[in-house]
Amino acid sequence: MHHKSLSQYLAEQVLAGAVTPELKQLIERVAGACVAIGALVAKGAVADILGSAGTENVQGEMQKLLDVVSNNLLIEATESSGLLAALVSEEMEEPYQIPEAHPKGPYLLLFDPLDGSSNIDVNISIGTIFSVLECPKGLSKPDTAAFLQPGSKQLAAGFVVYGPSTLMVLTVGRGAVGFTLDRDAGFFVLTQEKVSIPVDTSEFAINASNMRNWEPPVRRYIDECLAGKTGARGRDFNMRWVASMVADVYRTLWRGGIFMYPKDAKNKEGRLRLMYEANPMSFIVEQAGGAATDGCRRILDIQPTGLHQRVGVILGSKNEVEHVSAYHKA
Ligand code: F6P
Repeated sequence: MHHKSLSQYLAEQVLAGAVTPELKQLIERVAGACVAIGALVAKGAVADILGSAGTENVQGEMQKLLDVVSNNLLIEATESSGLLAALVSEEMEEPYQIPEAHPKGPYLLLFDPLDGSSNIDVNISIGTIFSVLECPKGLSKPDTAAFLQPGSKQLAAGFVVYGPSTLMVLTVGRGAVGFTLDRDAGFFVLTQEKVSIPVDTSEFAINASNMRNWEPPVRRYIDECLAGKTGARGRDFNMRWVASMVADVYRTLWRGGIFMYPKDAKNKEGRLRLMYEANPMSFIVEQAGGAATDGCRRILDIQPTGLHQRVGVILGSKNEVEHVSAYHKA
């Protein structure tokens, strides 16, 4: 069966006026870096990329070698393109300015180069998440303030899962689409024209070891799921937790589900990062017909105050997300 390549898909989006030729090129470059990251992930120990880099990132977390290598690959693939004004990465405290030697472009790129770091060394799916914003006009060196735009302003967002297959989900604001890496050809091909999350679900994903710290609405929701048929919900629920957001959200997109990393008594602001984790994922989930909230606010409406700020995340099948939101209002 013939599948459209990512480039062909994006060329159609250019013709339809959904993306500019420059945005098409930027997405292609990011995808190219992800192909390279995926190849390294597949090689594992043979490529000498497992283990610790021996350094800490801005969050005070130990960096894995693959975090650092993936970050560099994404920068190398995009900084000389003439498409970017600046970029932000989970691995760097400040916005990365495009070196003087390279031309500047209209976009701001944000990414988590390697999501699910705790799974790198144990051969469980990991991924890359990215988001594209427009750079406010007239800025030669975009500072933090240039990036602090709500998620609703994203022009494109995507994530790649390095699993048994290497997969990408992308949105440019006209639905969410799914690609699979054709390893022989070396590029992504369109394998899901319309990603659509079932509105109802009986599957939840949450790190239950945090239960003692949860806020009452989350506790109530999960208690009722666990009570199953005999409880308030009147049906049994199943649970999944990969501990790589990319893999958990991918499953949620495909067969429905609710993914939760809520804020709690320990992680008072939440655990996941707004700008390069929650926002791109929420954009994709909404474009697939789902919903994304921190419990009280639509994630895409949150006005960011910091590049690396954290946020509670509850996303997935619309009716379940609304169910939990209602408990937050009660
Ligand atoms: O980026 C953070 C992350 O690795 C996510 O991919 C994942 O959902 C979460 O952390 C896992 O957290 P925990 O280790 O608490 O299960």
